[in-house]
Amino acid sequence: MPGTCVIGLQWGDEAKGKLVDILTEDHEIVVRYQGGANAGHTVVSGDQTWKLSLIPSGILRDAVVCVVTGGVVLDPASVIKEIDGLKSRGVLVGPKLKLSDRAHLVFPWHIAEDRLLDGSLSGGEAIGTTGRGIGPCYRDKVGRSLAIRLGDLYRDDFRTKLEHIVAFKNRLLNNWHESADAGAVGIAAGGGSQPSPQPPLDAAAIHSQYMQYAERLRPYVSDTTAYLLDNVEAGKRLLFEGAQGALLDIDHGTFPFVTSSNSSGVGVASGSGVPGRWIERVIGVVKAYSTRVGGGPLPTEQMNPIGEHLRQRGREYGTITMRPRRCGWFDAVAARYTARLSGVDQLAVMLLDVLGGLDELKICSAYTIDGNRVEQFPSHVDDLKKAVPIYETLPGWQEDLSSLRSYDDLPATAKRYLARIGELLGRPVAIVSVGPDREQTIFCEPPATQQKQWPRHPLRTSANT
Ligand code: IMP
Repeated sequence: MPGTCVIGLQWGDEAKGKLVDILTEDHEIVVRYQGGANAGHTVVSGDQTWKLSLIPSGILRDAVVCVVTGGVVLDPASVIKEIDGLKSRGVLVGPKLKLSDRAHLVFPWHIAEDRLLDGSLSGGEAIGTTGRGIGPCYRDKVGRSLAIRLGDLYRDDFRTKLEHIVAFKNRLLNNWHESADAGAVGIAAGGGSQPSPQPPLDAAAIHSQYMQYAERLRPYVSDTTAYLLDNVEAGKRLLFEGAQGALLDIDHGTFPFVTSSNSSGVGVASGSGVPGRWIERVIGVVKAYSTRVGGGPLPTEQMNPIGEHLRQRGREYGTITMRPRRCGWFDAVAARYTARLSGVDQLAVMLLDVLGGLDELKICSAYTIDGNRVEQFPSHVDDLKKAVPIYETLPGWQEDLSSLRSYDDLPATAKRYLARIGELLGRPVAIVSVGPDREQTIFCEPPATQQKQWPRHPLRTSANT
């Protein structure tokens, strides 16, 4: 079967971009199937650094086709900026990028709504969204009557539809601002201060702007579902690239502190239109520790010098928003849950080098909630908020791992740490990353102990062949 899938098992930012870039070598098509311009991935190759958001990093390779499917919410300004940035650095984009005509479009009102509400209508803690209009765009998609898809830009009734929606949104935004002034709405605005009222949306100006976008994007727009099905049935090798992390999944994550799409493995089929039966290998990507941006519980958070060590050594600042990430110890309860949920076969442990210099390391292997030992990830966020981690303590290492290229060369303490992650998650660690460069990657045969722990699947593909 021709499909490989890369899924982040934590709260996003697991360095999936680097892994996808490496795996792309063995695939012909890379597929981005959910999320939007809230994602950011950085790929470092030699002295070149690439920061991408909507377009898969596969675009950097000549022979690879990159597909952005209908499950994605597409901000046309963002994607055009990325296309222009790639072209200006000599990357061939034209024949290699396909955008689904089914992708829902982000409009200025989505960004205004996101910044105005940030999910806190019911009061309480803000989600701390990226402010990219992701939630409001998905809300309109599900609501249907106020939604516009990429393919709609090329239809005769686009202007009429747009005018109808803009009139409605102006009334809505105006009401929300008035409610905010009266204190009736819990304004979050990305976790910050109250936004000032905006001038009304101008349908004619938006129409003209989106018509320009439509012309710029025309060469890339097609029915990507048909394209993917044709190719998967023809035996082409597809790499599915999940954005965000599985704990931010709208249905299975730490709701409501989640994104608005299915960012765990369950989203691959619905987002891409390719049935799960075509996927042979699912690689679960974890950081060697935990991070989270925005609101919501992070049971192993370290608001102390350990957290600062992780943030500084791991350069833990958002690619898109530059917000400092919250940092903590590895949470095996959470990652075991998402590994199972996503049908993970193998693990990739990223940023292992960041742990260097710490005398001892902790892994959370269970929680105490209301005095009870709990090994299953709680389904309600209020229970997760009460969770007190139960830690296992392992010895750390002082060595700099960043120049190591072989599993055998890793310090025994690092091997032990990796082995314990593999045991707790019930999957073998197949790939280890010790730095941002493509070269700083170790492909390891899983130790026998980990293979024994593996629940169902034999190791189908040796990661270093
Ligand atoms: P939204 O996706 O902008 O609606 O944000 C919802 C939540 O998901 C916020 O806590 C964001 O910080 C988080 N989030 C969204 N995209 C990413 C990502 O790519 N990495 C990490 N966190 C993300």
